[in-house]
Amino acid sequence: MTSKLLRVSFMLAALTLSVTFSLQSDQPKVLLVSFDGFRWDYLYRVPTPHFHYIMKYGVQVQQVTNIFITKTYPNHYTLVTGLFAENHGIVANDMYDPILNKSFSLDDMDIYDSEFWEEATPIWITNQRAGHTSGAAMWPGTDVKIHGSFPTHYMPYNDSVSFEDRVAKIIEWFTSKEPISLGLLYWEEPDDMGHQLGPDSPLMGPVISDIDHKLGYLIQMLKKAKLWNVLNLIITSDHGMTQCSQERIIELDQYLDREHYTLIDQSPVAAILPREGKFDEVYEALAQAHPNLTVYKKEEVPERWHYKHNSRIQPILAVADDGWHILRNKSDDFLLGNHGYDNALAEMHPIFLAHGPAFRKNFTKAAMNSTDLYPLLCHLLNITALPHNGSLSNVQDLLISPTPRASPNTQTPPLLHGSVKPRENEQDESYAYFIGVSLGSVIVIVFLIVLIKHLIRSQIPALPDFQAEISQPLLQA
Ligand SMILES: *[C@@H]1O[C@H](CO)[C@@H](O)[C@H](O)[C@H]1NC(C)=O
Ligand SMILES: *[C@@H]1O[C@H](CO)[C@@H](O)[C@H](O)[C@H]1NC(C)=O
Ligand SMILES: *[C@@H]1O[C@H](CO)[C@@H](O)[C@H](O)[C@H]1NC(C)=O
Ligand SMILES: *[C@@H]1O[C@H](CO)[C@@H](O)[C@H](O)[C@H]1NC(C)=O
Ligand SMILES: *[C@@H]1O[C@H](CO)[C@@H](O)[C@H](O)[C@H]1NC(C)=O
Ligand SMILES: *[C@@H]1O[C@H](CO)[C@@H](O)[C@H](O)[C@H]1NC(C)=O
Ligand SMILES: *[C@@H]1O[C@H](CO)[C@@H](O)[C@H](O)[C@H]1NC(C)=O
Ligand SMILES: *[C@@H]1O[C@H](CO)[C@@H](O)[C@H](O)[C@H]1NC(C)=O
Ligand SMILES: [Zn+2]
Repeated sequence: MTSKLLRVSFMLAALTLSVTFSLQSDQPKVLLVSFDGFRWDYLYRVPTPHFHYIMKYGVQVQQVTNIFITKTYPNHYTLVTGLFAENHGIVANDMYDPILNKSFSLDDMDIYDSEFWEEATPIWITNQRAGHTSGAAMWPGTDVKIHGSFPTHYMPYNDSVSFEDRVAKIIEWFTSKEPISLGLLYWEEPDDMGHQLGPDSPLMGPVISDIDHKLGYLIQMLKKAKLWNVLNLIITSDHGMTQCSQERIIELDQYLDREHYTLIDQSPVAAILPREGKFDEVYEALAQAHPNLTVYKKEEVPERWHYKHNSRIQPILAVADDGWHILRNKSDDFLLGNHGYDNALAEMHPIFLAHGPAFRKNFTKAAMNSTDLYPLLCHLLNITALPHNGSLSNVQDLLISPTPRASPNTQTPPLLHGSVKPRENEQDESYAYFIGVSLGSVIVIVFLIVLIKHLIRSQIPALPDFQAEISQPLLQA
């Protein structure tokens, strides 16, 4: 009887201590997932049980203000740098840099010129420079050499590779002998179908349901790999989508001679490079052209867009109102859904959900800026953030143990908030560590007491029966 009790208490002690020490030595794990074009309110369009499962056991932010222009490449680069487009340099999906005399085009997949990406340093590189490893499954820019590096593991971009195959890679990298600490996973939908069908189409219902199934698959695979409870998972997107119509088209040919300018980026933010000596003519013609087109000289672009101080931003910017489409003439491609508009419009806003050991449970936050994700990621990864335009303090309430800062009234500049204070991270874990060590120690002491008693009793023949009752509940525990 006593030896049974001894074995059980010894096993419990060993287990508690080993769990505690493995918890301590574990690298942080963060998986960032983007479902392109997943508008914030798609969550409520059809049942999305897997998204709601994350909300219930994690956190949600209802309105995320992304960056202008609300296009795919500019916003994905903001998520991993915390910078506005004018600061990270990916100012559009289609760009021309007059200093480099080079073009960048998502439409032609001509995006591999490193120089376009090197005005910033994305988080996977900073993570690697800090001695950790990263893995990326199709996240925009992760198959481009930036400042001489690729992610430790990455997949060359190929939109034919299934979601399941991308998830398999991510799981493989997180569970390998040298596990990654940062994973990045990208999926093209519901953006593609949103463009084709328009977000108001009832056919978007099944498209959103399919994304929910894909999220369910990811959760299932993370659970199977025993990653679900140890990994911090963030589900977000780059932008929303708005309904367009053949009735809301602005045709530039009606106002401008094609010989007088080059159209670098088309709709809904037309980036216009006038020919030599044609600036005034083009600007005047466009400024009065259409009530649903607002035309800015580059230096007059509103401050709140932070979209001015970069040579890749063209001299004239013509911005369409929500739901209006800019074409040269009706032979150009028309889309029933589009994005790129003013980032103050709710239609342009993405989703933001997170789950994991660092995050609170069943917590909803009203609003955040997408630039705040970067300092949050750096905090979770325990790496020092580079200068950026977000602030960790804006999103710290999403975390389980928001460390109280010096004083809530102290206004610290954003850069200071961004820099990682490892102490905060340690506090989370040291709590678990403390409980583990205490429990382990208590059990070891009990073990020693029982052992001593056993040694004493082995000299005395009679063993009291009640010890059987003690060992029973211990076995069931
Ligand atoms: C820019 O590059 C093009 C070829 O891509 C070339 O024809 C043109 O002369 C270059 N312009 C300048 C100013 O160097
Ligand atoms: C893209 O992925 C598909 C599906 O896995 C594969 O059949 C195809 O060969 C890949 N294309 C390239 C260029 O690697
Ligand atoms: C388009 O312009 C008209 C006239 O100024 C205005 O009434 C309408 O609200 C605008 N549409 C949008 C979507 O802003
Ligand atoms: C649009 O412009 C192109 C080039 O000038 C021309 O070939 C085409 O016929 C035009 N289409 C329409 C619908 O006007
Ligand atoms: C989640 O929080 C809401 C209120 O914020 C509460 O009504 C609900 O019961 C909570 N759900 C769970 C599962 O704790
Ligand atoms: C977003 O950033 C702006 C400018 O820094 C700031 O005024 C605003 O409070 C931020 N919004 C949130 C929800 O943190
Ligand atoms: C954004 O951050 C960059 C890098 O720190 C900085 O140069 C820039 O001035 C910031 N922009 C704003 C509007 O604060
Ligand atoms: C965070 O990083 C520092 C070194 O930069 C390290 O000393 C510390 O142990 C790390 N904390 C955790 C919780 O991993
Ligand atoms: Zn996108």
